[in-house]
Amino acid sequence: MTLLADALTREHHEIDGGIEEFVTSLRSDDGAPPETAPLTRAMDALRRHIYLEEDILFPWLAGPSLAMPLMVMYREHGQIWRAMDTLELFLATEAQGGAHRDMVVGHCQDLLDLLEKHNSKEEPIIYPHADADLPPAAHEVLHEFLETGELPDGWVCREANS
Ligand SMILES: [Fe+2]
Ligand SMILES: [Fe+2]
Repeated sequence: MTLLADALTREHHEIDGGIEEFVTSLRSDDGAPPETAPLTRAMDALRRHIYLEEDILFPWLAGPSLAMPLMVMYREHGQIWRAMDTLELFLATEAQGGAHRDMVVGHCQDLLDLLEKHNSKEEPIIYPHADADLPPAAHEVLHEFLETGELPDGWVCREANS
């Protein structure tokens, strides 16, 4: 079975890739409207990824040894969530021809920077515990969610509004 750390890290890369693809299409000067699908796909995947972490993975890892790093992860998810909300707002304005593309690119870059800061801690500090510390039943639940799980309607991360 694939390591959870590998599967979750792959999701990080796919999400980054979708945002970068959108930025590239936004920067191209061919006059065509930007292709937003890669970005909306990436943001949907990112929200689902954060749900998996906060609702399934992190509770299994809760305990004194990871309390501090998990607190940081929850806080950064909140920042990432708000950055996505802002970006969506700008996308809606851009669709009406109102927002400057440079600003949308800037908001994408902000999101990529937050993700880099977050993932560069989460991958080495949290994910190894997913494979080492979780009981087989939890592995099964996580792998199943990775395959077919969906973000519940209306779910927001714990610190989305703090
Ligand atoms: Fe995370
Ligand atoms: Fe993650």
